[in-house]
Amino acid sequence: MTIKVKKAVIPVAGLGTRLLPATKTVPKEMLPIVDTPSIQYVVEEAFDSGLTEMIFVTARGKDSLEDHFDFAPELEQVLEQRGNTEMLEKLQSISTMIDVVSVRQKKPLGLGHAVLSARNLVGNEPFAVLLSDDIVDDPTPCVRQLLNIYEEKGESVVALRRVPRPDVKRYGIIQGREIEPRTHAIDAMVEKPDPKDAPSELAIVGRYVLHPDIFGCLERVKPGKGGEIQLTDAMADLNRQRKFYGYEFTGEHYDIGDKLGFVRATVAYALKRPDLAGPLKEFLRTIA
Ligand code: UTP
Repeated sequence: MTIKVKKAVIPVAGLGTRLLPATKTVPKEMLPIVDTPSIQYVVEEAFDSGLTEMIFVTARGKDSLEDHFDFAPELEQVLEQRGNTEMLEKLQSISTMIDVVSVRQKKPLGLGHAVLSARNLVGNEPFAVLLSDDIVDDPTPCVRQLLNIYEEKGESVVALRRVPRPDVKRYGIIQGREIEPRTHAIDAMVEKPDPKDAPSELAIVGRYVLHPDIFGCLERVKPGKGGEIQLTDAMADLNRQRKFYGYEFTGEHYDIGDKLGFVRATVAYALKRPDLAGPLKEFLRTIA
């Protein structure tokens, strides 16, 4: 069975309160990791995974995200006049790479509600969801790893990562059985459990490939923790009707919605740059 998934839903309507005051006027997805807004890493991951239609679920104050993937004629003209062809080509490739369509989430009622807001744009086909709070560095893009499973099994797949037990209270946690190396058949999911009740230490990270039946579940699900419509609750409902898989992805994961994760990603990505690695290592030695 080969099912081609084309659409990526990228929810960017959250308030980003953990990164205040930076996020008071700048969307957290536009904060740069070295010199590239985090949203671009995520869009490139989707594109490199073969997803061709990007759907942003946005909110007020997030227009710069769409602008980032559009042409910028005045800026491009200046770069051309200055002969900075390298940067000109870089900027133009971002704009030609993808077409973004967007839909507004009118109120920040949670991640589940954000995904439901994309229903009309997705239609009755499977789709991927990528959260820009999570950046994964691996030669095989994280969402591609999940798509490989969806294309084979035709059922929903979430990205999983093992976390220390005290941290389970920050994540959706699964109960499941490992059926192939790294692949788990999921029996149940619970949002932010108490560490003493958690069914495992396998946490759901912000990459999903979902069967379109998820929309019916999202419509039915009642507000959960924090009064928000939780995607995990809707996935748990879908899991009662259909098979659901989890995949322990390969790669280095950074939770950049959190201050320490953001700084870690900044240092790690800077150390990958040939022009920055040497002087940065030298600097880190002097302050460590
Ligand atoms: P978070 O739980 O990180 O919430 O959302 P947040 O508002 O973005 O950030 P904090 O916790 O206040 O710092 C996880 C993902 O779900 C999206 C966010 O944009 C992020 O990608 N989201 C969340 C929405 O699109 N809408 C919502 O109502 C809530």
